[in-house]
Amino acid sequence: MNKAHELLTSFKARFGTGASVYRAPGRVNLIGEHTDYNEGFVLPAAIGFSCWVGISPRADGKLIVYSENFREVHETMWDGLGAHGSGHWWDYPLGVAWALQEAGYRLRGADIYIAGDVPLGAGLSSSAAIEVSTGYALLSAAGHAVDRTKLALLCQRAENEYVGARVGIMDQFVSCHGRAGQALLIDCRSLEYKAIRLPAKVSLVICNTMVKHKLQAGEYNVRRAECEEAVRKLSAAMPTIRSLRDVSMEQLAQNRSLLLEKLYRRCRHVVSENQRVRKVAELFEQGRTEGLRELMAASHQSMRDDYEISCRELDTMVEIAGRQRGVYGARMTGGGFGGCTINFVDVEHAAEFQRRVSAEYESAIGLHPDIYICEASQGAELVETTADNFPKVTR
Ligand code: GLA
Repeated sequence: MNKAHELLTSFKARFGTGASVYRAPGRVNLIGEHTDYNEGFVLPAAIGFSCWVGISPRADGKLIVYSENFREVHETMWDGLGAHGSGHWWDYPLGVAWALQEAGYRLRGADIYIAGDVPLGAGLSSSAAIEVSTGYALLSAAGHAVDRTKLALLCQRAENEYVGARVGIMDQFVSCHGRAGQALLIDCRSLEYKAIRLPAKVSLVICNTMVKHKLQAGEYNVRRAECEEAVRKLSAAMPTIRSLRDVSMEQLAQNRSLLLEKLYRRCRHVVSENQRVRKVAELFEQGRTEGLRELMAASHQSMRDDYEISCRELDTMVEIAGRQRGVYGARMTGGGFGGCTINFVDVEHAAEFQRRVSAEYESAIGLHPDIYICEASQGAELVETTADNFPKVTR
């Protein structure tokens, strides 16, 4: 039985009705880390792990949310959402409901069944997947057409304001707009994007270090604040800049004296990472891999030494990957302090890479890593419906 049918069966058993099933994927970022909230460039791909949401409208204004992963149900009324979460898993779906309402969408009560296979806490955006799939489902159940960019922005708002994490737009955006077999080069200022086909010989291999250090949430917001402070300082010499996106490596070097050493290094990461994103995108567009290894290594080093968001487990995983046959590049991916690395591996060598890295990492760190050979996947979509009580979409 496929996932959608499984979910429909579980939905019927729990809520007693048919439903429509929506899916939104997690993501892996190929390059461009901590550049999104600096209005720069990123190159993520949606992956084959998703969050699935079954939904059926209710007439009484209640929102009943069940999570298969947490085996827990939460019930609320539309007018009882509040403006902030309470530190539970349901903050994500309810936060999205809140953000949609704030944006002026009229929504209806609903029974919602959530099941996901995006590994939790691994830095593969299980949060964006649950937000986007719920948002897509809520809009559709109330008869609204889905504007994908608007949905991504509202999911980001839910996470920023309702959940309380100051994340950028990358994860929600690629979960909405992802394309099978392609990565997205996103300009996080204009939100223009371009789908870029990955070279056929390259496999995306994700290695999960299986650690998540506590620093993660707090340090993310600290990095963001540091970037904002650096922009304020640099503005003294460059009054027209709005974000680090507007600063070149030359300008940064010329104005180094305006910044304390640490802030200078933070900026050097962001400014140089933006350049690397464009170079990698260019290589992929030409179907080439020459120089990819160096760009990925420079990205990792920059995050380790300048942005200081790596950790021993990530460094070890990247170092082990670099020794294997058929590797076109490896680096940590996502917010940092644990989670995963992304590896470009020759298709022919991917299975061998998986075996060897797994054994070497386990003997070095003492943890058995999950290693996924992935394909870039399609963004959010309606998968299946057995509901007969769905309204017609209005535009
Ligand atoms: C997290 C955030 C993204 C992005 C990355 C780092 O995944 O959700 O917005 O900032 O970290 O690149």
